[in-house]
Amino acid sequence: MKVKFFVKRYIPDIGKEGFDEYEIELTEGLTVLDALLYIKENIDQSLSVRYSCRMGICGSCGMIINGKPDLACHTQVKDVVENGIIKVEPIPNLPLVRDLVTDMSSVFAKHKKIKPFVIRKDEKEQENPVREYKQTPEELLEYLQFSYCIQCGLCISSCPVSSTDELFFEPLILAQAYRFCVDSRDEGIEERLNVVSQSHGVFNCHFAGGCSNACPKGVDPALAIQLLKRLILKRAIGFLKKKKGADIVSPYPEGPNKDKIPKPPPKTV
Ligand code: FES
Repeated sequence: MKVKFFVKRYIPDIGKEGFDEYEIELTEGLTVLDALLYIKENIDQSLSVRYSCRMGICGSCGMIINGKPDLACHTQVKDVVENGIIKVEPIPNLPLVRDLVTDMSSVFAKHKKIKPFVIRKDEKEQENPVREYKQTPEELLEYLQFSYCIQCGLCISSCPVSSTDELFFEPLILAQAYRFCVDSRDEGIEERLNVVSQSHGVFNCHFAGGCSNACPKGVDPALAIQLLKRLILKRAIGFLKKKKGADIVSPYPEGPNKDKIPKPPPKTV
């Protein structure tokens, strides 16, 4: 069976815009990314597409496939083809670099602002850790699902606020802010809440929920945003408890037979 691909093109240097049509054979296991790479290698080398891991981990290959946001490397052509046709477009609501490649630099700059890492007051210990921090399975579950975000940007494609406000802290950024705020090891909640409670932050979200439908990893950014609003309101009325980050685990006790275990002989060459 042959499949027709209509691929959105944009090459600013030569003023190229619109859809190009390519026909390729549907083979067993063919993903949309495989098909685009086949087109690039065998039919039209000017086609640009971004990818890296080819296994749904790096988040590079997000695009709109037959009207729906998805990862091209994770989408089987046979599952999405309609009447022998597949239409492929870049993620909307982001600046376009070329063809299917969008510019994520403004997203990464906002991501940096929310400090997406565990912050500790004791910087000395954090720079030179000796042991891991304590965390119970229940504490892990507080943020686990939000840590599955791969920053593909597909949530941005479905966000009505991102489509009209380029300064908006996109769903993935706000979800990551929440993820670190509720991590029991973290002590940077105040800093993050200050960033996301400003204009273009969490209160600009309309709660359309499109971000959660679009996420290919099952993350629920819409929920994280509402929980983040709750943290900010609790802080405003003085109900947010002061948070002390988890302690580090104690040194492993040395057993009574410590000195009785024979050391292995030194290796001779
Ligand atoms: Fe890495 Fe698709 S190439 S997620």
